[in-house]
Amino acid sequence: MGDRHSSPLSWVVLYAVIAAAAAAYFAVLCEGGSSSTFVRKVECSVDMPLDSDVFAIPPGYNAPQQVHITQGDHDGKAMIVTWVTMDKPGSSKVRYGESEDDLGFSVNGKHTRYKFYNYTSGYIHNCVLANLKYDTKYYYEVGSRHTGRKFWFRTPPEVGLDIPYTFGVIGDLGQTYDSNRTLTHYQNNPKVGQTVLYVGDLSYADDYPDHDNVRWDTWGRFTERSIAYQPWIWTTGNHEIDFAPELNETMPFKPYTHRYYVPYKASGSTRPFWYSIKRASAYIIVLSSYSAYGTYTPQNNWLLEELPKVNRCETPWLIVLMHSPWYNSYDSHYMEGESMRVMFEALFVKYKVDIVFSGHVHAYERSERISNIAYNISNGQCTPVPDPSAPVYIIIGDGGNIEGLATSMKEPQPDYSAYREASFGHGIFDIKNRTHAHFGWYRNQDSYSVEADAVWFYNRVWYPVDEWIISTI
Ligand SMILES: [Fe+2]
Repeated sequence: MGDRHSSPLSWVVLYAVIAAAAAAYFAVLCEGGSSSTFVRKVECSVDMPLDSDVFAIPPGYNAPQQVHITQGDHDGKAMIVTWVTMDKPGSSKVRYGESEDDLGFSVNGKHTRYKFYNYTSGYIHNCVLANLKYDTKYYYEVGSRHTGRKFWFRTPPEVGLDIPYTFGVIGDLGQTYDSNRTLTHYQNNPKVGQTVLYVGDLSYADDYPDHDNVRWDTWGRFTERSIAYQPWIWTTGNHEIDFAPELNETMPFKPYTHRYYVPYKASGSTRPFWYSIKRASAYIIVLSSYSAYGTYTPQNNWLLEELPKVNRCETPWLIVLMHSPWYNSYDSHYMEGESMRVMFEALFVKYKVDIVFSGHVHAYERSERISNIAYNISNGQCTPVPDPSAPVYIIIGDGGNIEGLATSMKEPQPDYSAYREASFGHGIFDIKNRTHAHFGWYRNQDSYSVEADAVWFYNRVWYPVDEWIISTI
């Protein structure tokens, strides 16, 4: 028969064990975020010169260039193909098929061009390949016979609950030597991204005198080596606005909207700056930081109608893309996303958004799962708090553009910030099934497979437990 009255010594031991366990537990729970100690080589980002090989014009008179593709419908059974011819319109036809030697299908598209101050664009063609089969490799050719150029892409699997899919995540790329390293690293990543989620700021042409639109063309040629083969999902950033009244250019987003098409009408949007797509097991909502989003505006109305439509039994992963981040602890662009956060954050929590990717800040940062939605002006509750229904916010505006890194951070590191580092790089969001996805961030200085930051994500609807506490203990 046991002794009901333990000795004082055993109580001391028990208390010590409990205290040690509690200390370890709260050390995990209460541990502040970390700022990387990685030491970068400090150097300016320099744009690649116009005669760089990555900007080379394809051979042949009026040969198609700047070929790029993006999803062309809501479900992933269509692809928009866009390219530019410089000398004359030429053909807007795309020939395509499942065999490289038998491009038995064809579709005619349209072309357009635009003027921007003293620049006149080439002929920008776009064509929608519709009613494609899921999970199928298609070859396609653009241009006329003697200068036709062939590429290929793979359509996504049919939308469904446990469909694995791998997204690359890139932002603020520009066209420097660092941009080239980022793109090369992404293309060589052994995890092999199938589609890029691009979080805005493309060419940085507006950093040049008169917004030199030649730099839109060079960016199109530079990125073709990826975007001609896999879709990039576009988000608009501030460098797409190109609002220049001093040049008598007052139509915002003019170069961008002529060059980059998105399937916004398929999701009931009325403008190409906010829209949604489904792809495999992900539902992706793209928002515009630079279009009105207040109550009664088109974007606000659209989002209010959009979020209830997301069926997590069909697409378990709910991802939002926007350019300007809501949670940022760098001095760069600090609080620029605050007004949109005030408008939409409660909705993101209500509908259990899994992850929000943004750019704008030229660095990397991952937040805790937090929200800041209790404040009502009079109650003083204006601090971000842990919230299992809230998204994780990832800033990945570290593509490598000419403006350089954002190195100045708020100190001490705010509690909402889990990890931050001012280095160029890219991300991979790798969905495994309805419950698990893995995110890795890859800095350019490492070899292709090194994850400088890596976390497992647990789906907010199907497995809503706290990722970091469970994975750490
Ligand atoms: Fe930006």
